[in-house]
Amino acid sequence: RKTENQLLVIFGASGDLTARKLVPALYKLYKDKHLPEHFAVLGVARSFMTDEEFRKRVALESKYLDDSEEFIATFSEKLFYEDLHKKYDVDYRELNERIQDLNTTYQCDNNIIFYLSTPPSLFEAIAKNLTAKGLNDERLGWKRLIVEKPFGYSLETAKSLNDGLHRYFKESQIYRIDHYLGKETVQNILVTRFANSIFEPLWNRDYIHHVEITNAESGGVESRGGYYDKSGALRDMFQSHLLQLVALIVMEPPLSANPEEIRNEKMKALKSLRLMTDPKVLEENTIRGQYLASEIEGEKVKGYREEVDVDPDSTTETYAAVKFYVDNWRWADVPFYVRTAKRMPTKVTEVVIHFKSPHHQIFKNSDMNKDNKLIIRIQPDEGILVKFGVKVPGQGFAVERGNLDFYYESLGDESHIMEAYERLLLDAMQGDATLYARADEVEAAWRFTDPILDHWKKGDAKIYGYSAGVWGPQHADELIEGKSMWRNPCE
Ligand code: BG6
Repeated sequence: RKTENQLLVIFGASGDLTARKLVPALYKLYKDKHLPEHFAVLGVARSFMTDEEFRKRVALESKYLDDSEEFIATFSEKLFYEDLHKKYDVDYRELNERIQDLNTTYQCDNNIIFYLSTPPSLFEAIAKNLTAKGLNDERLGWKRLIVEKPFGYSLETAKSLNDGLHRYFKESQIYRIDHYLGKETVQNILVTRFANSIFEPLWNRDYIHHVEITNAESGGVESRGGYYDKSGALRDMFQSHLLQLVALIVMEPPLSANPEEIRNEKMKALKSLRLMTDPKVLEENTIRGQYLASEIEGEKVKGYREEVDVDPDSTTETYAAVKFYVDNWRWADVPFYVRTAKRMPTKVTEVVIHFKSPHHQIFKNSDMNKDNKLIIRIQPDEGILVKFGVKVPGQGFAVERGNLDFYYESLGDESHIMEAYERLLLDAMQGDATLYARADEVEAAWRFTDPILDHWKKGDAKIYGYSAGVWGPQHADELIEGKSMWRNPCE
């Protein structure tokens, strides 16, 4: 695919994301020769900064110690900055002049990406002000808008964000970031399922007993208490990243790898999640928790309610576990268990497909925990593990678990795993929206999440405390019934 000459305008460029993720991702793309011949970046934010100060702020020299200063400078010279006199909602006359100037000087061919790394409350105003200057007009060159998450706070707010953006930009111009879709291992779910004939025939209710997704982080909320306390684990991780993972697991095979075909199937998958509205069903199938002050390896760790900018009486969840069903032909009666939490024993994300036992057991030591499993390690140790039965050497037919284990790392140097932001930026630069969430997908994910949030908000649902460094509240174990249990990855 070709990357055309273009200008990238980042709104909210004085923020953390620009220095930590976006500019380093662009630099890596530059280093790997993925950027077009004519290219420039304009950082935009409210506060004043010179171009030079902006370049210093992203501090590439301290991040890429092995690269020569001269080489870094050839990239940094393409970075510029423009302030908005303290407000995003102003006349963009000066900004437009700067954009036109850079576009001409750097021969960007009127192709522009606007990256909105600002609070969502500013999205519509920015889109409106860009439109007032004709910056959504695609007659001379394409215009694209990338928006960061969180995309909405509920179904209603997501809809109103979509409506607001659609007033000024077409859906085909809008790219909603979900950085999980930028992860190589998440994309590989499609390849695992649809490029192999050994998995897909088994990928249904006849062979799959249940599906489990764990997203654990060892860190707490750190400096993001202000944001997190209004959000919580369900909004922060589940509605977005984890339901995107669910959609990839659940979806039907698309007709082709075309972005719209894939997104149509993901959309259908999200629509087929069984909505939980009955309070009893919600009570039985959802669990929330909050980490408590504790000690990990002799070190004191703050409880969630003691974190900076967190309400001392907060009922915001840092742990969420949800059991649900997918109402369609393929998945009828197969339970899905999804959990996400902060302050767990380790940082790990994995999907476990638990297969059913053979219909007829002829060997003695059959045990649900020993059934076939396909474990998709999203991170770390990116790879795929298949657990299958093997005969224990010696007399009789004792069965043990054998592992077929694939690590991306083993592909060697050529398998350089692109950082999520590198991949996503490059895709948007090339006009490929496959890995971006479409308006209807985001709304479908909120439609499923909203009743859980409402149920929790009512306050009758218990919030369980758990010590930092354990796998969440004990009560969550009861969510998975039968002989099975959560698979705790590092145990
Ligand atoms: C972000 C959430 O979207 O994803 C954070 O806001 C979370 O709270 C992060 O820590 C996790 O991303 P990753 O790629 O580190 O798993």
